[in-house]
Amino acid sequence: MTHEELAAQLTDAGQSQVLAFWDELSAAQQSSLLAQLEAVDFELINQLVQGEDAAPDWAALAAKAEPPRAIRLDSTGNEFSPDEAIARGEQALRDGQLGLILVAGGQGTRLGFDHPKGMFPLGPVSKRTLFQILIERLRAVANRYGVSIPMYLMTSPATHDETIAFLDQHDRFGLKEDELQIFCQGVMPAIDARTGKLLLAERDSLALSPDGHGGTLAALVKEGCMADAQKRNIEHLFYCHIDNPLAQICDPKLIGYHLLANSDMTSQAVKKRAADEKVGNVVTIGGVTQIIEYIDLPPQYGQQKQGDGSLKLWAGNIGVHTFRRSFLEQAASQKDSLPFHRALKAVLHVDFAGTEVTPASENAIKFERFIFDLLPLAQNAIVVEVNAGDAFAPVKNADGDPTDTPATAKAAMLARDAKLLCDAGATITDGVGVEVSPLWALDSLEAATKCPRAKITEATYFG
Ligand code: UD1
Repeated sequence: MTHEELAAQLTDAGQSQVLAFWDELSAAQQSSLLAQLEAVDFELINQLVQGEDAAPDWAALAAKAEPPRAIRLDSTGNEFSPDEAIARGEQALRDGQLGLILVAGGQGTRLGFDHPKGMFPLGPVSKRTLFQILIERLRAVANRYGVSIPMYLMTSPATHDETIAFLDQHDRFGLKEDELQIFCQGVMPAIDARTGKLLLAERDSLALSPDGHGGTLAALVKEGCMADAQKRNIEHLFYCHIDNPLAQICDPKLIGYHLLANSDMTSQAVKKRAADEKVGNVVTIGGVTQIIEYIDLPPQYGQQKQGDGSLKLWAGNIGVHTFRRSFLEQAASQKDSLPFHRALKAVLHVDFAGTEVTPASENAIKFERFIFDLLPLAQNAIVVEVNAGDAFAPVKNADGDPTDTPATAKAAMLARDAKLLCDAGATITDGVGVEVSPLWALDSLEAATKCPRAKITEATYFG
């Protein structure tokens, strides 16, 4: 596109302010700004500015929300048995039907770590990074079932190059070259909250941010991952977040329930410990399963109790899903399958007099898509309850915060691994930390074959 064509398009879109410094830019700067602008869908931006994506009436929806169709840990109302599910899931794994999507595009701002979150050294004894912890789990499952399980790792422009360099440097923590595909998610421009105008981060670049983990859908197709999965006859994709060291990657039970229910999308959930716990709420509204984020759930609905005193809206989203591949493909083929969510943020920018502005309060709107908004489109969606202690210890905040910190996640890893070893017959001196790599033992049965009746008296990493 020439500068003239671009200028005309921007004038039509009411966004010509982004060329305010064009004449001062070098040829290289002009071509980089041009490339950014060519990637913007101005029709979409216009719709978003007009508010055609207006948020639903969450309070009205929450008033109608019921607990979702679920497999509960206490077995009430369960449609399938765990043994049936495990057998079915194991068969699918043995048949090589599974792949993994790991999303790691977030900037980890709350954690205050200046690198991709996957590089955070979390192992309480081993200091393994989140990347190593999760990749070892994937490899352990693949080894157990004698298959290769490819990993599709999503980054964002802020984490992409460093992630590639780090995983190269560590030989992909044992994944073979063709078992790892790293792909970068898309971006969305931020707009001025008052005027709807695109903002410039610098004179030669737009203020852009990742398009949310919902961007996985388009990026999987664009970057060739979906085609790769199809070529490998992968029928289902397990999905999880980089920030959860306890994620039960490719858990046969979860996969089995997904298959028995003939579901397009199956989600693991934990029983919320408090009405205001900061997790999304998996609910059903008029027979349709969906997630209401914690910030969108009015407290009076979150606090509703059932007859036995437990929370009615009990199901906390942990960001672990299993998707049927053909369902993802179909959703990706429809441009509007995922709505945008708006977030009001303080965005540093250059104003059109060329002055750098550090806003004192929120000045801009960022747009993100959420992958879990696929739930309402899924046939036979089902939720599988899991114990938080076995499957969920997210690293979101810096140490010192009361919840979801490296310290709380390390404590959860130590507790889970101590239980695994004790169930295998070991005894551990009080206060002694133990950490287990899944490559050493994926569960207590496997651990029992390796160290029956071990007496552990000092901090030990079984790797
Ligand atoms: C998310 C869920 C919440 C759930 C919680 C569990 C959303 C909107 N909310 O909360 O319902 O209870 O996880 O931990 O998802 N990511 C990208 N690209 C992006 C944005 C995020 O790859 O553009 C990745 C992050 O790297 C991370 C994951 O998505 O792995 C979750 O993102 P995060 O922003 O941490 O979600 P939360 O708001 O904490």
